[in-house]
Amino acid sequence: MSESLIEKLQRLKRERRAVILAHNYQRPEVQDAADYVGDSLGLSRQAARTAADVILFCGVDFMAETAALLCPGRKVLVPEPRAGCPMANMATARELRRLKETHPDAAVVCYVNSSAEVKAESDVCCTSANAVRVLESLPPEREILFVPDQSLGDYAARKSGRKVVLWPGYCPTHHRILAEDIHHARAAHPGALVVAHPECTRDVLDLSDHVASTTGILDFCRASSAREFVIGTEIGLLHRLARENPGKAFFPATPHSDCPNMKLNTIEKMVWSLEDMIHEVRVEEPIASRARRAIERMLAIP
Ligand code: 13P
Ligand code: SF4
Repeated sequence: MSESLIEKLQRLKRERRAVILAHNYQRPEVQDAADYVGDSLGLSRQAARTAADVILFCGVDFMAETAALLCPGRKVLVPEPRAGCPMANMATARELRRLKETHPDAAVVCYVNSSAEVKAESDVCCTSANAVRVLESLPPEREILFVPDQSLGDYAARKSGRKVVLWPGYCPTHHRILAEDIHHARAAHPGALVVAHPECTRDVLDLSDHVASTTGILDFCRASSAREFVIGTEIGLLHRLARENPGKAFFPATPHSDCPNMKLNTIEKMVWSLEDMIHEVRVEEPIASRARRAIERMLAIP
């Protein structure tokens, strides 16, 4: 009998001494084939500690870049090099340098959803899981520039009580979730808790019962005694939520919150990437050292 695609992927993984990391928004079959599925913070930590020779990273480009920065001795491959993040593309290093000139004493906090060049211009990185803690770790008198997600920046500023200059970037997928979707979902599922990602608009977050990163949403729903949840994030997260909580029901706030870039990775492309060892992600010096410093400062914050 001939080898199935999944068998081939597993064989290539062994032969190449590879580990497969996948973000929580990946297609269900990609998540199921991965060694570790998580949020941006968990994936960075996992990449930093892997002993594998090769990391096959199933997510979008800034995530694979982060893995390459944290593992200089390993080969980081992606199944689909065109999988980018439109929000990350809303900030360039040149624009950020210009803003820094008008705020010379400010600390720059960059969301991990950013290019390595933007990270290199930043003092410290954050993810949606630790943005509040990162802001709280900065000296109270210091002005903060937050780039590129205005929604996460606004949420973290309100939670930490810090004054923040926001960059006008946003996630097109999360901004498709509207306040009226939450009102409709509450009417349709009166017993449900509404849980949202901080990339959603302020209106949506203010209507939610809990706000968290993708792994934070999973943790909250697992621990909660509620039986029904309305989920305000990219719809790929519904796969893990349903699989890990068989007795509970999960409803997307809207079916329109899908990230087309996250869905570009497929099992076929994973096989091709490992077979031919193609689509390596590298960050060259001097950008790499400066970008790594911002990520390592984040990882050092407890
Ligand atoms: P998390 O770090 O919460 O998984 O979010 C990453 C992301 O791209 C959300 O759109
Ligand atoms: Fe970027 Fe939004 Fe897609 Fe996340 S969901 S990768 S922030 S476009």
